[in-house]
Amino acid sequence: MKVLITDEISQEGLQPLLDDPRIELEIRLGLTPEELHRIVGRFDAMITRSGTTVDAALLEHGRRLKIVARAGVGIDNVDVDAASSRGIIVVNAPYGNVNSAAEHSMALMLSLCRNVPVASASLKSGEWKRAPFTGRELKDKTLGIIGLGKVGGRVALRAKAFEMTVLACDPYISPKRAEDLGVKLVGLEEIVRYADIVSLHCPRNAETIDMINARHFDAMKDGVIIVNCARGEIVNEAAMLAALQSGKAAGAAFDVFSEEPPRSELVRQLIAHPLMVVTPHLGANTFEAQKNVAVDVSKEIVRYLDGQPLESA
Ligand code: MLT
Repeated sequence: MKVLITDEISQEGLQPLLDDPRIELEIRLGLTPEELHRIVGRFDAMITRSGTTVDAALLEHGRRLKIVARAGVGIDNVDVDAASSRGIIVVNAPYGNVNSAAEHSMALMLSLCRNVPVASASLKSGEWKRAPFTGRELKDKTLGIIGLGKVGGRVALRAKAFEMTVLACDPYISPKRAEDLGVKLVGLEEIVRYADIVSLHCPRNAETIDMINARHFDAMKDGVIIVNCARGEIVNEAAMLAALQSGKAAGAAFDVFSEEPPRSELVRQLIAHPLMVVTPHLGANTFEAQKNVAVDVSKEIVRYLDGQPLESA
């Protein structure tokens, strides 16, 4: 089986594939869609992260493809319907990076509330200023979690440890699960109305694109803070920028954007805004998570070859 890897994947985590004499790996990073179209026809399997768009056009060129493995949770960069219609199985790694994403959400929240990036830049530039970097505590603030799944649930537990009041909305979570996490399950409108900090933890799909838009910002508390470690388009970026510019939002911390890397003036302006703390989609970028997801998808490919049931398909 010839396996094509198109995004950076932990080498250590690929060991199950490297150990299997039936498998031949080829790593080709940074290819344009046209270059990918030209070579994908030689491969039986593909491993990607969020950097490769596996759309219908690519799948059409993948005449031998039998399995597409997404080393991560989100499969929004894979056209699953197009794959299924060609009999191509899509697998992912639903658990390996959830802790990493939850910790990064907390890191963003704390960095923003305590002005860590700007204070660090100021000190490194030779200044010694303290008053401009006076921050806010998480304790006694209300956190509104949108999406109480594997990542959102972990963020809830960590927020409780910081003595925050946690509200969450998630139509797919049982009241019992929310109760076990010590979280009050509410509707989106209540999150918008009562949260001091809103943190997003849902997948990107037709239901969630623009889920937080200008109408929601109008209803939010003055000085609200938004943390987005999920997917860019869930928060409308024009509305986010307007909320920062008007002073409605006191700040935002984003790890994800509608364009990665950013190209449009809007996304560049949002990233450059002084009240934004930003990272380039690093939620899953820990050594631990990258090893976990690579092991998980490698094992799925080996299971496929062995004719064993797949765990994530
Ligand atoms: C995910 O969906 O698991 C992450 O976005 C993974 C990644 O960084 O590629």
